[in-house]
Amino acid sequence: PGKELSVTPLPKIELHLHLEGAAPPAFIRGLAKQKHIDIGGIFNPDGSYAFTDFWHFLKVYEAATSTLQRPEDYHRLTLAVLEESSKSGVIYTETFLSPDFCGGRDLGAWREYLHAITEAAATAEAQMGITLRGIVTPIRHFGPDKARETARCAAETAGDFIVGFGLAGDEKIGKPKDFAWSFDMAREAGLRLTCHAGEWGGPESIRDALTDLRVERIGHGVRAIEDLALVDELAERGIVLEVCPGSNIALGLYPGWRKHPIGELFEREVKVTVSTDDPPFFHTTMQREYDLLHEAFDWDEAVFRKIARTSLDAAFCDADTRARIL
Ligand code: ADE
Ligand code: ZN
Repeated sequence: PGKELSVTPLPKIELHLHLEGAAPPAFIRGLAKQKHIDIGGIFNPDGSYAFTDFWHFLKVYEAATSTLQRPEDYHRLTLAVLEESSKSGVIYTETFLSPDFCGGRDLGAWREYLHAITEAAATAEAQMGITLRGIVTPIRHFGPDKARETARCAAETAGDFIVGFGLAGDEKIGKPKDFAWSFDMAREAGLRLTCHAGEWGGPESIRDALTDLRVERIGHGVRAIEDLALVDELAERGIVLEVCPGSNIALGLYPGWRKHPIGELFEREVKVTVSTDDPPFFHTTMQREYDLLHEAFDWDEAVFRKIARTSLDAAFCDADTRARIL
C-alpha cells in the first residue's frame, strides 16, 4: 500500500522465454480453426490455456505448438510475441527455439523456420526497438538421440542470431549427463550454454548441469535455495540464474510471491535475472513480474538497475550488440 510503482518502467532484458510458450491463446485458436486442427480441450471457457500441473502444462504446450506448421506461422508468432514484450519495456530478449517443433529436426527445414523468425525479428527491431536472439533447445523428455540431431541443427546455424544452446522439458526424466554429447557439440560450435535445472529437480540437478554440461547459466535454478553451500558456490562462480517467479508460482512450486526464493538468492549475492518463461500460460508479462517483485520484496530502482546490468552482462549476444543495447 502506498508503494511507488514508478521504478518498474525501466528498460527490461529477458533471458528466458519459450517462443511457442509466448503464443497468445487467441493466436493458437485462430491457427487451429483456420487449419481445421483438433487440438482438444486446451482452453478454459474464458479462452485462457487450461492445465492442472507441470506435466499437463507440457502436453498443452505441445498441443498448442502442433498448430505452428509452417515458417510463416513462426514469422507471425515472432512479431506478435515481440510486440507484446515491447509493451512491457523489454529491449532485448533471448528466446528458446526447438528444431523439434520447427521442421522436425531436418536441417533444411530448420533453416527455413530460422529465416522466417530472423526476418520477423529484424522487422520488430526496426519498428519497436527490441532485439531478439535465439537459443536452440532440445526437449529433455524427447530423449538424448533427438537432442543430438537438434545439436547438429544448432551447430550448423550458430552465428549472429543463434547464440546459445539449452535444454528444456521434463527435468524428472533422464540426467544432464545423457545430453553431454549434444552440449559438447554446441560448445565446440561456439554456442553459449544454459540448462533448465532446479525447477522440478533439487540442488543435485543443478550440480549435475554445472558439472556434466558446463553451462554458464541455469534456467530457473531456484531450488538451489535448499542447499546453502550450493547457493554460495553459485554466487562465487558468478553462475547466472534465469529466474521466472510468476511461472514458478503459477505451476505451484511456491505458494506466493513473498515465499519465492528470489529475494533470498539476491540477498545472498547470486546473480539473479527475471524472465516470464511462457507468459500467456502464466497470465504474466515482464511488467507484471517487475511490479510484483517490487511489491513482495520492496525492491527499488537500484535493484532493478542491477538486475538489468546482470542480465545484459549474461546475455549470449556479441559485445557489439550488447554495447548497442544499454
Ligand atoms: N518448456 C516451457 N516452459 C518450461 C518450463 N518452465 N520448464 C521446462 N520446460 C519448459
Ligand atoms: Zn523455461
